[in-house]
Amino acid sequence: MSKIKSIQAIQVLDSRGLPTVACRVSLDNNLTAGVMVPSGASTGAKEALELRDGETAFMGKGVQKAVDNINKVISPTLIGHNPLDQKKIDEHLISLDGTEDKSNIGANAVLAVSLAICRVAAKEVDKSLHSYFGYIYTDITGNILSPNLPMPMLNILNGGEHADNNIDIQEFMIIPKGAKDFKEAIRWSSEIYWNLKAILKERNLSTSVGDEGGFAPNLESNEEAIQLILESIQKSNLNAGEDITLALDCAASEFYKDGKYHLSGEGRSLNPGEFADYLEDLVENYPISSIEDGMDENDYSGWKILTEKIGSKCQLVGDDLFVTNKKIFKEGIEKGLGNAILIKFNQIGTITETIETINLANSNNYKSIISHRSGETEDTTISDLCVGLGAGQIKTGAPCRSDRVSKYNRLLWIEEECPDLELSK
Ligand code: PGA
Ligand code: ZN
Repeated sequence: MSKIKSIQAIQVLDSRGLPTVACRVSLDNNLTAGVMVPSGASTGAKEALELRDGETAFMGKGVQKAVDNINKVISPTLIGHNPLDQKKIDEHLISLDGTEDKSNIGANAVLAVSLAICRVAAKEVDKSLHSYFGYIYTDITGNILSPNLPMPMLNILNGGEHADNNIDIQEFMIIPKGAKDFKEAIRWSSEIYWNLKAILKERNLSTSVGDEGGFAPNLESNEEAIQLILESIQKSNLNAGEDITLALDCAASEFYKDGKYHLSGEGRSLNPGEFADYLEDLVENYPISSIEDGMDENDYSGWKILTEKIGSKCQLVGDDLFVTNKKIFKEGIEKGLGNAILIKFNQIGTITETIETINLANSNNYKSIISHRSGETEDTTISDLCVGLGAGQIKTGAPCRSDRVSKYNRLLWIEEECPDLELSK
């Protein structure tokens, strides 16, 4: 069995033009694989810590300390280890850091090593990365999953922290539910995206895009955004509600202050009950099948109201609420908050912990959605993770910009290479 020969990291740029960590692992048989880690903007307060230098270079956003931690602190302790022992390696990384939030070595350093080892280990056993993820899920949890192709959730209109416009809701997504396969899902999504662009142009609205590739025009209200998307679905000769449903990521923690949800774009402030009514009205009036972070990450009573109101008819996804953290998620499950979890491996820091959180979702009837971050690279690891674990849903931005389409393109190749895999409905 080959052993880890070297672990090397450098600083590269992400899709916002800010530094992130790239890491490459080589085995003594010279197999090599690398990854780049993503970075959020509307981060949850309880996420694992992304280590930034805080010095003058890159306006304080450099990640040279995290890179040095890989090259000088982590690397010497893992040389000679078996790359197939993912759980043991991740446990070692967790104890080497020694903090709850990985603030010592940095979650960006820890994650880069954890994922790069997965990638090289897949090569070592001559498996596709998605099959290898399925294998380590079983190794870590003892459970077996069926792989499939995920239903994509495409963010085609951006607001909140991801854009400079006046829209409060962060993401307006389309879900091509009626597509027969992944290819068709992507074709429909691209057509809707381009028709939305044409509609915006016709009305002299901006067609510049936000961080995740969706358009970012100034509009009168959140509802106007939904109506524009419905028009673009119709213009694409598709049926809203049947072929395509809609999803929102409110990222409500970003506009919650002093007990109220401040919709500054619409000039009103609502208490949690009123905001739950507002979201219920949207679900009643439009074909919305999923709402993420509909309430603030600490507003548990608001989450409870929302879940009781619309949890039976709408997927309610905890992102900032659960931060991919098994302990926090378990509490949320016990309190009956939401019915789905967004999975972002950099919120927690290792693949083993990510898999344990997904396993917790599976055993409690919560859906999992594998997600990118608003700051991304061309790395496509999440596509393989989603397929191998049969998670069923992926959220990775608009059908535009290479940092977003790289994930969809990887899935198109997986579909081509694995004709037995079905699109999850
Ligand atoms: P982030 O946004 O990557 O900026 O946190 C994505 C999301 O909120 O889902
Ligand atoms: Zn979110």
